[in-house]
Amino acid sequence: MTKTIGVVGSGLVGKAVARLAIAAGYKVVISNSRGPDTLSKLVEDLGQHARAGTVEEAIEAGDIVSLAIPLAVFESLPADKFVGKVVLDQTNYYPGMGEFRRADLDRGELTSSELVQRHLRGAKLVKGLHNLSWIHMESNARPRGDAARTTLPVAGDDAAAKGMVTNFIERLGYNVADAGALANSWRIEPGTPIYFWRYAPVVPQAVSGDEAKRIYQQRGEPVSPEQARALIQQAVRPSPIGGTLEGMPQVHVDLFLEQASADTVKK
Ligand SMILES: NC(=O)c1ccc[n+]([C@@H]2O[C@H](COP(=O)([O-])OP(=O)(O)OC[C@H]3O[C@@H](n4cnc5c(N)ncnc54)[C@H](OP(=O)(O)O)[C@@H]3O)[C@@H](O)[C@H]2O)c1
Repeated sequence: MTKTIGVVGSGLVGKAVARLAIAAGYKVVISNSRGPDTLSKLVEDLGQHARAGTVEEAIEAGDIVSLAIPLAVFESLPADKFVGKVVLDQTNYYPGMGEFRRADLDRGELTSSELVQRHLRGAKLVKGLHNLSWIHMESNARPRGDAARTTLPVAGDDAAAKGMVTNFIERLGYNVADAGALANSWRIEPGTPIYFWRYAPVVPQAVSGDEAKRIYQQRGEPVSPEQARALIQQAVRPSPIGGTLEGMPQVHVDLFLEQASADTVKK
C-alpha cells in the first residue's frame, strides 16, 4: 500500500497536495528549491505526519512522488534518483507566464508530460491532480459515497503506476477517469473541456470583494465519471497550446496575488 508521498515543490500546489494526503492518512516528505530549513513553519502547520527534506530525500521517501514545480525547471530534477519511481505529474505548460516556451510543445509534437517523462526516463509518470486550481483541489475533495464527489482525469503509460495514482487520488476524495496514455494527455491539458472551469463555482457578476472570494473558494458542480469521460472525448487540441491567466476570473487572480505576496513575506 502507498504510505508516503514525496512532494517536490512547496508552493500553492505542493501545500495543497500535502494537506490532502495527510488528511487521507499518508505521510508526507516535502521539499523545495531552497532546502528543508525553509520549510519548518510549513511542516509544523502540516503536523506530525509531515517532514521536510531535500528534493532527493522527498524522491527517495515517496511511494508516489508529486511534481508540484514550475514545468520550466523540469530539467533540474535529478533523473537518476527517479528510476523505478511512480511520479504524479501535476505540472502544466503556461508559456504566457514567464520565460519558458518550447517549440516542440507549441507545435504539439509531444505533451508536456511526455517531455517530463523523457527527462525522467526511469520513472513511471502519471499526469493527474493538475486540472484544477490549488484552491479547488481542497474544496472539491469529498469522501466516497458523497453526492458532491467529483471526478478527475489521469493519463499514463504504465498501468500499475496509473492504478497506484488512481487509488491515491480516490483516497484524497475524487473519482478518477482514465484519459489514456501520456501521448493523449493533451486531452486534459489547459484549454480543454475538463480543465479548470468544471471545478470552480460561478461567482455572480453582482458580487465582489470578500463575498466573491468566499463563493469562489467553494466547490464546483460535481462531474460524474461518465461526464468526465465525455469531456475527455470531446477535447479538441487547443490552439495555441498551453495555459494563460487571461480569461481567469478576477477573483482567482486576486487570490493568486494575495497568496503569492503572503508567501513572499514568509520567505
Ligand atoms: N497554482 C495552481 O492553481 C495550479 C493548479 C494545478 C497545477 N499547477 C501546476 O503545478 C505546478 C506548481 O504550481 P504552483 O502554483 O504550486 O507554483 P508555486 O506556488 O510557484 O510553487 C512552486 C514550487 O516549486 C519549487 N521549485 C521551483 N524550482 C524548483 C527546483 N528546481 N527544485 C525543487 N523545487 C523547486 C519552489 O520552491 P521555492 O519555494 O524554494 O522557490 C516552490 O515551492 C506548476 O507546474 C503549475 O502549472 C498549478
